[in-house]
Amino acid sequence: MSTARPLSNTRRQIFYELISGGTGLFLAVFMWGHVILVGSILTGERGFDWLATMLEDYYVAQPAIAAIFAIFIIHAIFASRKVPAQLRERRRMIGLAKGLKHSGSENVPSRRDNSPFVPHLESMLWIWQVRTGMVMLVIGSFHLILLGTDIYTPLFGPGPGIDSATSMSRVAAGLWVPYAILLLCLEFHASVGLYRLAVKWGAGKLPSRRVLHRIEQLLFWLVLGLGALTLVVLAVLVPPPLEFLLSGVSP
Ligand code: HEM
Repeated sequence: MSTARPLSNTRRQIFYELISGGTGLFLAVFMWGHVILVGSILTGERGFDWLATMLEDYYVAQPAIAAIFAIFIIHAIFASRKVPAQLRERRRMIGLAKGLKHSGSENVPSRRDNSPFVPHLESMLWIWQVRTGMVMLVIGSFHLILLGTDIYTPLFGPGPGIDSATSMSRVAAGLWVPYAILLLCLEFHASVGLYRLAVKWGAGKLPSRRVLHRIEQLLFWLVLGLGALTLVVLAVLVPPPLEFLLSGVSP
């Protein structure tokens, strides 16, 4: 009888881990798809509009925006349960962050340092994952509400639905600033999250942590590069580089 409580608590913790990890994995994969879908603007307005219209005509976009928002919030709730909520713990976190700042770039714990917070790359990644997660919760929620309004109502553009002219004009009008911050945060958050997930669920036994770090960095720069190019095209700063691909296709 005495073991019933700890066991059910352990089961609950594993269940919570599965939810936060599963939703995180789903959102990371969704973001790769998102970068490719929004990246259709690289082929010009025709490519982007064709894709957006198709996703709306086949009723993919309408339920997707609601489902993604729900998963986004569930992930935030379950992943943040371990974030120190109490002031004392926050102070310790700040102390750790300051310690890391003054510890130099080397990843080797100092023998003279008796502090429980040994400067460590993994801890630094964890701290920045919490910070980027908070930024994403604010800007990501704003983005999803904006796009939901765009998809369901005729408030923006000629009618309900996403269209290139509306997207480009709002991004060029200044939305590129929060989008650039969101892009940077989400690429960092997703690639580090996937790395931590791989280490946590045992994939670290096959490739070493060093190899996993390399994969994480490769994904980070690849998707960040594509997302950044998409953003400057949406902001009308550079012309769509792949427009020639659709130039011969009849409308
Ligand atoms: C089904 C859900 C989503 C839809 C339909 C969607 C759609 C779009 C569209 C149409 C744009 C072009 C700019 C605009 O029209 O304002 C855009 C850009 C962007 N979205 Fe989303 N989005 C979704 C979810 C998300 C989520 C969950 C995030 C991250 C938290 C996100 C991050 C971004 C970023 C960073 C950009 C800037 C362009 C880039 O660099 O790729 N989106 N999105």
